[in-house]
Amino acid sequence: MATKLLLTDVAASCVKQIPSNYIRPISDRPNFSEVERSGSIPLVDLEGLHSHRRSEIIMQIGQACQDYGFFLVRNHGVPEKMMNNALLMAKEFFKLPENERMKYYSDDHRRSIRLSTTFNVKTEKVYIWRDFLRFHSNPLEDYVHEWPPNPPSFRKDVGEYCTGVRALVLRLLEAISESLGLEKDYINKALGKHGQHVSMNYYPPCPQPELTFGVPGHTDPTMITVLLPNEVPGLQVFKNGKWMAVNSVPNTFVINIGDQMQVLSNDRYKSVLHRAVVNCDKERISIATFYYPSLDATMGPAKELIDDDNPAAYRNHSFSEFYEKFWNRGLATECCLLDLFKSSVV
Ligand code: OGA
Ligand code: NI
Repeated sequence: MATKLLLTDVAASCVKQIPSNYIRPISDRPNFSEVERSGSIPLVDLEGLHSHRRSEIIMQIGQACQDYGFFLVRNHGVPEKMMNNALLMAKEFFKLPENERMKYYSDDHRRSIRLSTTFNVKTEKVYIWRDFLRFHSNPLEDYVHEWPPNPPSFRKDVGEYCTGVRALVLRLLEAISESLGLEKDYINKALGKHGQHVSMNYYPPCPQPELTFGVPGHTDPTMITVLLPNEVPGLQVFKNGKWMAVNSVPNTFVINIGDQMQVLSNDRYKSVLHRAVVNCDKERISIATFYYPSLDATMGPAKELIDDDNPAAYRNHSFSEFYEKFWNRGLATECCLLDLFKSSVV
């Protein structure tokens, strides 16, 4: 039998035990008994963001970015049907026959669409319990023709979803700029030509979820990330020295700020560690939409946020330098990626 490259096809034939190349060292496992289950991340209701309540909502967003780096949004303007359709397309894509899925397989992160497994097959010895289909989506008309023609409504449904999420993100970036005391369009401009990448993550049921991760602890190398998980729990956020389970709330998105927001805000807002765990009986799907600066954008703390008490925490750098390091280092490494860009490091 030919070796299966994708987890979807490995998992289909593994009943009681996971293959040895998915077993993580004892010191690097989920430890389910230590997870905090009664906490929650802030929920921000965006209804009224364009009314007299704007400053109050902006304050809530700023507080969430500062204290958690994560928040849920409701009344976000993306119709529920669009969210469900996108999740359905992801689910159906991963159900396609292996030969149809494999047409998209690539281990080159520079490709504008690719299906792969784990995080980076080139650098990892122990794989994580995930396949992902990752593609660019802005401007939509430049990329939609590269997307899978199957399932038949993939391009239409996912295209609409991406347009809806983009409108939400533009509003959030304005709100976050204002919460930092910056001009409303500050972050939008700092991004240059926006990169919008979508990752459809597929986590098959796993016979031994205590030995592996869906995604190990990491921070996102983005400006901001919009996550839409299906109803199966799995996301955990690191808060006060503990992993805290994030419960899904119907019809909300999980928003988290990424490393580049930490840089831009000169450490006011923190890009927080998070991870996903898997479970024995239910497949988990999530759609992450990542917002990146353009590769040639120069990133650094906003000068308005630098003063004698708050010197620049990071050196200016091109986003491409940062992004290449992200892909080549692996996810769960000792020193965090941002440490390499501290202004004290030369
Ligand atoms: C990610 C991520 C979490 C999840 O893709 O960066 O953190 O719940 N995913 O799928
Ligand atoms: Ni993430």
